[in-house]
Amino acid sequence: MKILSIIGSPHGERGNTGKLLGEVLKGAESEGAACETIVLRGDSVKPCLGCDQCHKKGRCPQKDEFESIKEKMIAAGGIILATPNYIFNVSGQLKVFIDRCSSLIHCMALDGKYGACVVTSGGGHEWPIVQYLNHFLMVSGAVPVDAVWAVMGPTGPDTQVPEKNREQAFSSGRTLVRAWEEKRRFAMVEKVQEEHRKRMQELINWCLSINREFRVSVATP
Ligand SMILES: Cc1cc2nc3c(=O)[nH]c(=O)nc-3n(C[C@H](O)[C@H](O)[C@H](O)COP(=O)(O)O)c2cc1C
Repeated sequence: MKILSIIGSPHGERGNTGKLLGEVLKGAESEGAACETIVLRGDSVKPCLGCDQCHKKGRCPQKDEFESIKEKMIAAGGIILATPNYIFNVSGQLKVFIDRCSSLIHCMALDGKYGACVVTSGGGHEWPIVQYLNHFLMVSGAVPVDAVWAVMGPTGPDTQVPEKNREQAFSSGRTLVRAWEEKRRFAMVEKVQEEHRKRMQELINWCLSINREFRVSVATP
């Protein structure tokens, strides 16, 4: 199984989120997964221009790393989204990337993939961020199977993943690989996806009816 992890933190793999993600990846690798990590520091993916070209043509016209990261997501079996809590939300770096995924959401292009998320904070409030990332994964077509979060304080070279979170993170990585191997299904995820698929199909049909430029379709399970 190929797993692509995306960290939205300027501190990259050496930051708190990168350290917690590292424990998840140890678990995934122990089950045989091949893992690649991409760090979004804020300069490689530009903000969405709202030009609608991705919805019409399936590609963003901006010249940056987004399209190559998108190809890697599509080639992977598992996707892990990792972020620090930045003022009760995902970091700006990750939000910019998520906004650029709009056409993936419309087409549910991550259909058949499995996902997980990793959130760290200085003092807490990770759960709404986890819920947001899980929802993003679901409406993109992926099945979120697990999430890990930890209070880690400020970023620093000596900051360690708390012992109680380390084991949980390792097990989360293993769960991701096993869920993919067993093609696990979850009724709650399927319900959210079915509603979203219906809404996107209606939206695309409407767009096709008024504009022949549209070339996208929704993935069917
Ligand atoms: C701009 C900014 C905003 C932050 N906002 C919060 C916050 O609202 N709540 C919180 O608990 N920690 C907050 N933090 C602390 C980080 O979430 C925390 O230190 C995190 O583990 C850093 O991860 P990193 O080393 O991967 O970047 C903030 C840090 C920064 C730089």
